[in-house]
Amino acid sequence: MGVTPVIFAAGETGEWTIDRILAVAGEPLAPAARLARIEGAVTAPPRARWVLRGTRSNERYTTRPERDELRRVQPELGRAASTEAVLIPISKSDAWWDLPQDERRAIFEARSGHVTKGLGALPAVARRLYHGRDLGAEFDFLTWFEFAPEERARFDDLVGELRRTEEWRYVVREVELRLRRDP
Ligand code: HEM
Repeated sequence: MGVTPVIFAAGETGEWTIDRILAVAGEPLAPAARLARIEGAVTAPPRARWVLRGTRSNERYTTRPERDELRRVQPELGRAASTEAVLIPISKSDAWWDLPQDERRAIFEARSGHVTKGLGALPAVARRLYHGRDLGAEFDFLTWFEFAPEERARFDDLVGELRRTEEWRYVVREVELRLRRDP
């Protein structure tokens, strides 16, 4: 897969209405009315209150069986019933980035069960991961989720579980934006 840029722009326009911005760890993001997710864009729309940048990139940790299972069950973004979305920008610590790949993978899956837990929320939740670190962006990751309102509790449970894992001890900044759009 090639590298596709993405811009998240907050301001007065955008498909998504911002219901709530919660600073889970570290600095918050400024309040705004609406949010746009613009894949393929590298320049920010004029009058944006703030902008987050990332890229769709290759997977780093996923094994062949995990990837096959993910591709089998994961739904597309943009389903008509998915009128709620959550954007969670995340950065991890220097201690995380100083670890060798095999130790990061061991924390991520063997000890935290990230993919195993995540798979339990599919196909109810559609997801996309963007990377920002190699761009020198404000966040290492921009994680994006879409689901129907009746699946919100399932998503909330997953987020709660992930935040209790060993992997999350390396999270130094995390902001949660709750979004909705008209059906
Ligand atoms: C909805 C179910 C979920 C599934 C199936 C899932 C699956 C995955 C997979 C397979 C990766 C690794 C990609 C790679 O190989 O590089 C990943 C990475 C990541 N996910 Fe999830 N995830 C889910 C939910 C979440 C949630 C709710 C959050 C945030 C609260 C989250 C945050 C992240 C982050 C930050 C990474 C990057 C980790 C790193 O590279 O250090 N994920 N996820």
